[in-house]
Amino acid sequence: MLWPLTAERDPDGLLHVGGVSVAAIAEAAGTPVYIYDEATIRSQCRAYREGLAAHWPEAVVTYAAKAWISLALVRILIEEGVNIDVVSGGELYVALQAGMPPERITFHGNSKSFAELEMAVAAGVGSIVVDNFDEIDRLYALSATPQEPIPVMLRINPGIDAHTHDYRKTGIVDSKFGLGVQNGDAARAVARLLDNDGLDLLGYHAHIGSQIFEAETFAASVDAVVDFAVAMRERFSVEPRKLSPGGGFGIAHTDLELAPDARDYAAGVGRAFAAAFDAAGFTSRPTLVIEPGRSIVGNAGIAVYQVEARKVIPGVRTYVSVDGGMADNIRPALYGAVYSAELVAAGNGELPKASVTLAGKFCESGDILIRDVALPTIEPGDLIAVPASGAYCLAMASNYNMAPRPAVVMVHEGRVRTVLKRETYRDLLSREVDANQYLSV
Ligand code: LLP
Repeated sequence: MLWPLTAERDPDGLLHVGGVSVAAIAEAAGTPVYIYDEATIRSQCRAYREGLAAHWPEAVVTYAAKAWISLALVRILIEEGVNIDVVSGGELYVALQAGMPPERITFHGNSKSFAELEMAVAAGVGSIVVDNFDEIDRLYALSATPQEPIPVMLRINPGIDAHTHDYRKTGIVDSKFGLGVQNGDAARAVARLLDNDGLDLLGYHAHIGSQIFEAETFAASVDAVVDFAVAMRERFSVEPRKLSPGGGFGIAHTDLELAPDARDYAAGVGRAFAAAFDAAGFTSRPTLVIEPGRSIVGNAGIAVYQVEARKVIPGVRTYVSVDGGMADNIRPALYGAVYSAELVAAGNGELPKASVTLAGKFCESGDILIRDVALPTIEPGDLIAVPASGAYCLAMASNYNMAPRPAVVMVHEGRVRTVLKRETYRDLLSREVDANQYLSV
C-alpha cells in the first residue's frame, strides 16, 4: 500500500480520497493541506490486532503517538481498541484530553522530567517504561504505597543492529535508549526495581529502530526480550506479565518499495513470540505489546501542495517549487527520505512525463521534497499530492521562515472534517510578549 485504501481517480483523472475530491478539499481548506483517510487508519488498526491475535490472543496494539497525534486520531484509536504510547507530557496531555483511558497509556522516553513522571503517575498510566537508573531514583521518590505500586516496564538495549538509517537505530550498544543487556546494566536495573515494593515491574521492552522491513529483525527483538525474561527468571525468580519488542514496521513511500502489510508484520511477531514462549517454558502467558506508529498513519495521510513556480535550467534540471516543504516535511532533508508524487488532476489519458525536482519554499538549498520525480508538465496553480505523508511529517513540523503549519483534514465516506486548523499569522504572534515583562530572578 502506498496511497490510502480509498484513493481513486474519477473518469476525468481527478484524485479522490475517502469519497471526496482532493481538489475540492484544497479549494476549501487551502494548501498545503494534509488529508487523512479514516478508513485506512481503522483498517491498519484492525490488521495489527487481528494479525497478532491469530497467534497470541493476549496481545495489545499500542500506537506510537510520536508519528502524529491529534484528538481526532486518538478517538479513532479508542474505538478501534488500540492503546497509545507517549513520550512527553505534551503527548500525554493530548491523549488524556481525547479521553484515552489512562490505563491504556504507556509512557516512554530516555529523558523524562520529574514533572512528566509526576503527571504520568498522577494520571495513573498503565505503565512507565524505565530507561535509566536516574529515572528509577525519581520513581522511588514518587512511589507512594505498596498497595498502589507504580506499574513499570524496563527498556532493555539488546545490542541489535537493525538495517535502517543511523538516526533511527535504537537497539545498538552505543545508543541513548534503554539499559544494556550485554554489560549487565539491564539486570542491575531489574534488581533495583524489584527491591522497591512501591514499583511493580511488569516486564521488559525493546525497540530496535524504525522503518525496518525485515521480519527477522523483529523476531530478533522478540527473542531478545524473551531471552532476557528467561535470564531474569533464573536470577530473580520473576516471570514477566508484559513483554514488548517495540515498533518500527516500515512502510512504502514510493512504488518501488515493497513493504509487508500490517497483518503480515503482526503475524510475524505473533508467531515468533509464540515460538519463543514455548521454548521459554513460562508458567503464565504474558501480554504481548507491539508499538506501530508510522504504519498506522503513514499511508493513511497525503500532503497536497500547490505549485508556485517552475524553473528550467537548460541541460541541468527543472525545479518545480511548491508552497510547502521542509517546515511541514523535514524527512527528505533530515534522513534523505525518498517520496513520490502525482498530479491531483492527472487527466484521463496517459500524459507524457518528464523528470523534475520538487522543491520546497524554504530558504535552504537542502529543502528539496523529491529529487527527480516523473510528472506531466506542471504549471503554477497545479496541485501535487505526496502519498505516505501521514507519519513523522506534521509531528516534526516547524514554523521555519514563519510558515504557519498546514491544515489537517480527515476524510471518511464522502465527508471531510477539519481536525487541525491551519495556523494563522496571528497564531505566529501568540507567544510574543510585546510589552516589557520582567522575570523576578
Ligand atoms: N516504540 C518506540 C519505543 C519508539 O521509539 C518508536 C519510534 C516506535 C515505537 C514507533 O516506531 P514506528 O512504528 O513509527 O517506526 N522520525 C523518524 C522516526 C523516529 C522513530 C522514533 N521511535 C522518521 O521520520 O523516520
